Amino acid sequence: MKILITGSGGREHALAWKIKQSKQVTEIHCLPGNAGIEEIATCAPIGMMEFDKIIAYAKEHNIDLVNVASDDPLVGGLVDQLTENGIAAFGPNKAAAQLEGSKKFTKEICDQYNIPTAAYKVFTDFEEAKTYLENTSYPTVIKADGLAAGKGAIIVENEVEAVKTLNEMMSNAKFGSAGNTVVIEDFLTGEEASFFFLCDGETALPLGTAQDHKRAYDGDKGPNTGGMGAYSPAPILSDALQQEAIEKIIKPTLQAMKDMGHPFKGILYAGLMLTEKGPFLIEYNVRFGDPEAQVILPRLKNDFVDLMLKTNAGALSNTALEWDDRAALTVIYASKGYPDSYEKGSEVVIPESPDDKTLIFQASTKKQDGKLVNGGGRTLAITAFGDTIKAAQENAYTATDKINWDGGFYRRDIGWRAVKG
Ligand code: AMP
Ligand code: GLY
Repeated sequence: MKILITGSGGREHALAWKIKQSKQVTEIHCLPGNAGIEEIATCAPIGMMEFDKIIAYAKEHNIDLVNVASDDPLVGGLVDQLTENGIAAFGPNKAAAQLEGSKKFTKEICDQYNIPTAAYKVFTDFEEAKTYLENTSYPTVIKADGLAAGKGAIIVENEVEAVKTLNEMMSNAKFGSAGNTVVIEDFLTGEEASFFFLCDGETALPLGTAQDHKRAYDGDKGPNTGGMGAYSPAPILSDALQQEAIEKIIKPTLQAMKDMGHPFKGILYAGLMLTEKGPFLIEYNVRFGDPEAQVILPRLKNDFVDLMLKTNAGALSNTALEWDDRAALTVIYASKGYPDSYEKGSEVVIPESPDDKTLIFQASTKKQDGKLVNGGGRTLAITAFGDTIKAAQENAYTATDKINWDGGFYRRDIGWRAVKG
């Protein structure tokens, strides 16, 4: 089979690495890819939102299956357009991708199917939202309805901050049209964890748990990022809590999507808050997380191409997943300045042969005059295995410390929650 992946991040490098291990695969293509992906796949400079060019490329190269790996093209309907053009695609269609594309859509499902989530109100009118903020308790959470690169949820401590945030979203279009509608919801307390599923419309097969680190600096300080490191499994999500989340959150969601005529096929990523009252849904994503993919895929033993085909065929009910028993932990090496502005084009030197416990995934990297250079914020994901999360953490930092990159930085405490005990 010839497989095409869209995207250029560490997640896509992990997918390409995993897909390459399938005996069914003869060619891997990635659009646009990066310098690391280029070592195992054919890449071409076509952006993941250039749908017409992606379709033409897939036709020209007789691609058998396209993995649409990120939120923007999924919510924008790339899977629908590929399918209409006779090209098989892995990922939810546009209607099903609303689970990530619209917070209001997901919240309404929670209401109708009794799914535990923070109490909320939806607003399209600034004055009405402002009046509500005068009478609510703090902290509270204001969210842009649409996609906002993971930055659209703001926790506000008081009314002054709240109105400022509302102004930015609704009047100044800080997140573009994503903020025309806002959801204001109660603040939940507890620990967060991510739970992944492979869904074929009917069956949700648990695809592992992970914990991300959203803040830029050690001690969970600094601005929010796309994620500075992750580990899997997340011990906080006990078997009992996983089962509770499946029964109360995941199964009713799949039922809702079916009832609406939009069965969900692809990766469902549930962001959960583990509250005193059990797991609550914070949000859904309709794809792997980045960097969560860099710790989940290395632990998965099954042929991923086989799983994608079974997902599309609605044939997951008799599938069992096999896992590496070890823990995996990944450290993100990002450009200095990220998530704000940073310089591109500085040389990244990776030692020739990392040890056999380590995998190095690249993001937005380029080759310039034979040198590897950064081309984006998050640049490397250094994943290591270990018998415990602590051992995986030690292995990951041993490998990370060997990389030579003056223009980069990384957190030193990835995994702290799991190793503190
Ligand atoms: P979201 O974009 O909905 O995933 O929100 C981003 C982050 O904001 C989450 O990962 C949480 O850390 C935080 N967050 C979102 N909603 C809530 C909530 N209702 N209570 C507490 N924290 C929240
Ligand atoms: N790491 C969080 C995300 O991919 O959304």
